[in-house]
Amino acid sequence: MTDFKKSVVYQIYPKSFYDSNGDGLGDLKGVTEKLPYLQRLGVDVLWLTPFYVSPQRDNGYDVADYCQIDPRFGSMEDFQGLVAKAKEMGMEVMLDMVFNHSSDAHPWFQKALGGDPCYQDFYIFKKGSKEKPPTNWLSKFGGSAWAYVEALGAYYLHLFDVSQPDLNWDNPRLRNAIYQVVNFWIDQGVRGFRLDVVNLISKPQEFLDDPEEDGRRFYTDGPQIHTFLKELNRETFGKHPNMITVGEMSSTTIDNCIKYSNPDEKELSMVFNFHHLKVDYRDGDKWSLMDFDFLALKNILNDWQVGMEQGNGWNAVFWCNHDQPRVVSRFGNDRQYHRESAKMLATAIHLLRGTPYIYQGEELGMTNPYFSRLEEYNDVESINHYHILRKQGKGEKEVMEILQRKSRDNSRTPMHWNDGPNGGFTEGIPWLAVAKNYREINAKKALEDADSVFYHYQKLISLRRELEIIAYGGYRPILANHPEIYAYIRAYQGNLLLVINNFYDKAPRISLPQAIKLNNYHTQVLISNYPASPDLQRKITLRPYESIAYYLEKKR
Ligand code: NOJ
Repeated sequence: MTDFKKSVVYQIYPKSFYDSNGDGLGDLKGVTEKLPYLQRLGVDVLWLTPFYVSPQRDNGYDVADYCQIDPRFGSMEDFQGLVAKAKEMGMEVMLDMVFNHSSDAHPWFQKALGGDPCYQDFYIFKKGSKEKPPTNWLSKFGGSAWAYVEALGAYYLHLFDVSQPDLNWDNPRLRNAIYQVVNFWIDQGVRGFRLDVVNLISKPQEFLDDPEEDGRRFYTDGPQIHTFLKELNRETFGKHPNMITVGEMSSTTIDNCIKYSNPDEKELSMVFNFHHLKVDYRDGDKWSLMDFDFLALKNILNDWQVGMEQGNGWNAVFWCNHDQPRVVSRFGNDRQYHRESAKMLATAIHLLRGTPYIYQGEELGMTNPYFSRLEEYNDVESINHYHILRKQGKGEKEVMEILQRKSRDNSRTPMHWNDGPNGGFTEGIPWLAVAKNYREINAKKALEDADSVFYHYQKLISLRRELEIIAYGGYRPILANHPEIYAYIRAYQGNLLLVINNFYDKAPRISLPQAIKLNNYHTQVLISNYPASPDLQRKITLRPYESIAYYLEKKR
């Protein structure tokens, strides 16, 4: 595999990618059929979200068997076929490993419920009375983080849904069982792992009430986290060259993320953090309506870019995934400036220091679906919060608007392949409705249009491979306080890359810092989102959502 700093990862949510057998659910054969499309885009690694045996309470993040494929998605043979074909076409497969919790349908948990003390120690059980949970911690999906089991007179911890009991990483037998799972998939040809909420796996020795928050301070980047990750690395992927690993880090810090991803620490290749995506949460509350805070967004991106570089850490850089609304509807303009803003957002993220992740359909500029009825939603978190918000007294209209903006289903609607029924995703009835704009936004149309969002992504991916400054250059913010422009400089071996992005429909005139000595460079437009972009000058007027990257090659 190419160096992960030069790679681009494409995230596939198999359930919504392509349905090869007409049952309304995407499947592994569907992914294999679409490999030529992905090869054309030019991505290096395919991250597949979980397709293991699961009751699907949380769309596969509730795993009942880590080494078996849910028949709804296909067979082990289908998976092997997919890995082999992808390799032949120059792409590797990254799997999603959910080790903070299992499903309550997992045989380990079933044995624990049956009274087996050995398996009870695979989870976090605490004796207690029905009236009072061990702590006041809250589940991230709403309600208490503890569930009472009458027959055992004990509670178990679930930081997510009640059907997702947390695993006990302090137990070496559990850890070994997990290492066997990872090694099993390495033997199947998998070359990468995305580790679900992995910075939550280390719980404290003592379980105490949280006087102010939901309990996260006790288990986020918990006491043994770095020890556990080093052991996981040593026992599994660390034994193989060229593995690419990414940890999903919930509410983390730069200092911890440096440790997770600095190569000297031998933990992971890179990390996802989510701070930049909380800039439209009112007082930290996701389930609220608020325009995004642009200056906060820039500050967070700048702090993480600079901080991680200083500590030789490595970011996974992204706007979208299966838990986030569509970025063009969120930080762009999904109507009047759909194309311009989708391309601008792509440039802003792909030219950062870090490995870019593209979530399926992002390369087409897919938008939120704007569902108007609760029945159209499927996601457990959205449905739980619908009821919580209604109970708090919010009106139906307001709650539906919150879901339209915040629900995870915004990104989970089926991929648009063409303008036929259901966007060409399935010949059956799709498990989740297809967004209504599939006739305008779809892969077939994008491939036929040389100016499409798709080809902009394709160009960004190939630039990363061609120009070392993108993969290896340093990062410096400029115009940090500008209220509409997000701009930065990348620097490598005396050359510069200047990236200017207008996040609004206004036309600001900017002045580049004097420290950039334009006369010292040959300059060229590397990529932009308007047909003709101006040559580089000290003062530039940007058009709505305009984005220009200039390459400044040092005169020698
Ligand atoms: C993060 C995953 O991305 C999300 O989809 C899931 O619900 C939670 N972790 C729990 O596994």
